[in-house]
Parts: sequence; C-alpha cells; structure tokens
Amino acid sequence: MDRRSLPLIPIVLAVAVVALSALGLLVWQGMRASTPPVAALGVINPPIELGGPFKMVDHTGREVSEADFRGRPMLLYFGFTYCPDVCPTELGGMAAAVAELGDEGDAVQPVFVTVDPERDTPEQMAGYVGLFHPRMVGLTGSADQVAAMARAWRIYYAKAQDPQASEYTMDHSGFVYLMGADGQLVSIFQPGTAPEVMARVMRETVLRS
Ligand code: NI
Repeated sequence: MDRRSLPLIPIVLAVAVVALSALGLLVWQGMRASTPPVAALGVINPPIELGGPFKMVDHTGREVSEADFRGRPMLLYFGFTYCPDVCPTELGGMAAAVAELGDEGDAVQPVFVTVDPERDTPEQMAGYVGLFHPRMVGLTGSADQVAAMARAWRIYYAKAQDPQASEYTMDHSGFVYLMGADGQLVSIFQPGTAPEVMARVMRETVLRS
C-alpha cells in the first residue's frame, strides 16, 4: 500500500461509520412508521371461498336467507349459547371491534350462528345475542339447516359429553369470518384476535370507500 494513502484510512472508516449509522436510522424509522402487515396479526387473507346461500331462522323467529344480509359487511361467528367461555369471549371481541369503528361500525352486521340447534331455540338466541351487541343477529334452524350452513363455512362441530357433567357441550371451530357486502369472504380472524385488529382490517377492506 502507498504510504501517502495511509492517512486516508481513518477518514474513509469515519465516513463509512456515519453512512451506515444514517442508513440504520432510516431503516429503523421506516420500521417504526409502518404498522405490521395484517398477516402478522392473526389475520388470514384467504385464497379460498367460503359461505354461500343459507336458510336459517333468526332470533326473532323469522326465516332468513343470505339475501337478507346482502349489501352490508357481516362479521360471522359459529358457536353455542351454553359455551362456558370461548364463545362469549369471541362474541365480546366482535362487539368491541364494531364499537371501535364508531359510526362507521353501523354498516357492519355482527352475526352469531349456533351449532347447537337442539338447545339454541330462537328464544334462547334472543336472550343471548343482546348481551353482546344490540344489533347482533342470532341464527338457528333445524339440524339440517345448521349442518348445511356450517358445511358452507367449513365449520367443524360435534357434541361432546363430559361424564362428570349433566349437560353435553359442543366442540367447534372458533374463527371469526368477515364477509363483504357482496357475500364474499374477505378475511378470517383466528380465535383471540384483538378487536382493534378486526376493526383495522374492516376499515382497510369492507369499509374503504
Ligand atoms: Ni364455544
């Protein structure tokens, strides 16, 4: 190496350190400014199609079909009113997500579908959905109607009997489905997804005008 270039080395090193620090700061600020992608928040943006036509009975005893829900986004959850904790938690989360949206949330229809039509009569549903949200609709029906709707959303459910308990319980899938105003699936939220995350996804998808 040329002796005359030696004094340059500390200068080059200093410039490199300053440049790298500046780059690091920029990257760090960029990471702070951008919120994490929804996929990182327990949200599945599905490449699959779910849902479709159904015929059910709502919590007021009225026969309803998918056509009654067209034109507004729908947050949908399948469970049963005798569920000790999981269903109440998820339904509470759905209601909180709609509340989080303020006036915009009025456009979203929260729906609870039972997988236990034997016990979840319209009367039973009526006394339940109102505990979570004043506009929540409860759907029940005959065993066949419920089975058909659950199949359309690929919901797993089965009766389970704990020998220690007098009443049976239900095993069931616990996802929350966001359907668009056109009835198409927009997003699936994993059990336990924070209401703020559901609200954010709704704002960025079905409520975006
Ligand atoms: Ni449950």
